[in-house]
Amino acid sequence: MDYKRLTKCRVCGNKDLKKYLDLGLQPLPNALFRYHKHVTKKYPLVVLFCNKCYLSQLSIIVKPNILYSDYPYHSSVSKTFQDHCYEMAIKVRDMLGFGDDMGKPLVVDIASNDGCLLNEFKRVGFTVIGVEPCKNLSDEANKKGISTVNEFWGDENVIPPSDIITATNVFAHVHDIVDFLKVCYKRLRVLTKGILVVEVPYLPNMIEGNQFDTIYHEHLSYFLLKPLMVVFRKCGLQIFKVERVPIHGGSIRVYASRSEFKREVESSVIETLEYEKKGGYYRFNTYKGFSKKVEKIRDNFVKLLEDIRDSGQTVLGYGASAKGAMLMNYCKLNKNHVSMVIDDTREKQYKYIPGCGICIGDFTQIRNKRPDYMVLFAWNFAKEIMEKTGEFRRLGGKYIVPIPSVKVL
Ligand code: TMP
Ligand code: ZN
Repeated sequence: MDYKRLTKCRVCGNKDLKKYLDLGLQPLPNALFRYHKHVTKKYPLVVLFCNKCYLSQLSIIVKPNILYSDYPYHSSVSKTFQDHCYEMAIKVRDMLGFGDDMGKPLVVDIASNDGCLLNEFKRVGFTVIGVEPCKNLSDEANKKGISTVNEFWGDENVIPPSDIITATNVFAHVHDIVDFLKVCYKRLRVLTKGILVVEVPYLPNMIEGNQFDTIYHEHLSYFLLKPLMVVFRKCGLQIFKVERVPIHGGSIRVYASRSEFKREVESSVIETLEYEKKGGYYRFNTYKGFSKKVEKIRDNFVKLLEDIRDSGQTVLGYGASAKGAMLMNYCKLNKNHVSMVIDDTREKQYKYIPGCGICIGDFTQIRNKRPDYMVLFAWNFAKEIMEKTGEFRRLGGKYIVPIPSVKVL
């Protein structure tokens, strides 16, 4: 079996989990393939709610070695993401307030991808080490001079005690988050009261912004601050500061330290918990309407694409992201709806999106194909993509943005 069922909440152990969204059988969105007739395996995609700790979570766990052996996603492709990483590095540096006596503090990044975040930390004066399970990515990072260990996070012996540990966009991918955090706890340096910085997509942004395409098999958990606090506390870690950051449609960044360091807890923690309570995120009823909204977006999006197809006009997509593959599959699109998806990631180009067999092309295809419309599947980077496709726009092309509601711009 290449997946297992979730039998209890991964934060609090509650066995009575309630379903609020069923997106049917879906392929693994990053399993791009080279032949368009490839038959792709599909897995159930169902979201459950825990009414004890309020964690939303998928009903199954696909084995990590299937999901992350050869991973096509490269963080550095997006300039917006690079800027975000720079902002984070500066903020953490200022927080530590390092002086001459500290030398170069060590930051360890978990699931460091191609070294995008560590590159920024290095630039602002840190010593850096990455831990990355995908061999293609760790090799690439090492080539760029970002020292990276090719491992899943879990073996505390692979890294030295760290002043800072960062985990951005990885925590939602992890099933055994208690084990994951316990290793973080052990590796935070005592002398400098080490800090763990975790960034995850924020569930209220997903619900309010109808971002159902961010639900796919890699994202096992959909977080509020509340369940994060529960599981951090269980592992001896105290969250002392929370920030909302705009990346990936809206994320939260939490800062934590070992509880015994007794850092002062900032008001942002209480304020965020109040925001979640007032927003109804601790009640199952709040999630019940989500499924209907999702179906409405799907129906509007498919109708628009079918009308365009029937009028003889053409459509390209931009951003062969996992969420794009999810949306294309959920809407059952094929190359008659979207003839090709453009992506600047070299490793993705001229492969096919699983499930729908749409080909991924490079930037030059926009000129070759001269489409009438372009779907922004990477809507989280809409501004950046619109800027680089100015010529398409000047020639009369229109953008289709599917999320939070279908719009033509
Ligand atoms: P993400 O939303 O999961 O980060 O994926 C974004 C995808 O869009 C990823 O495959 C990279 C791609 N992309 C480009 O090809 N060019 C760009 O300029 C940007 C911003 C993203
Ligand atoms: Zn729970």
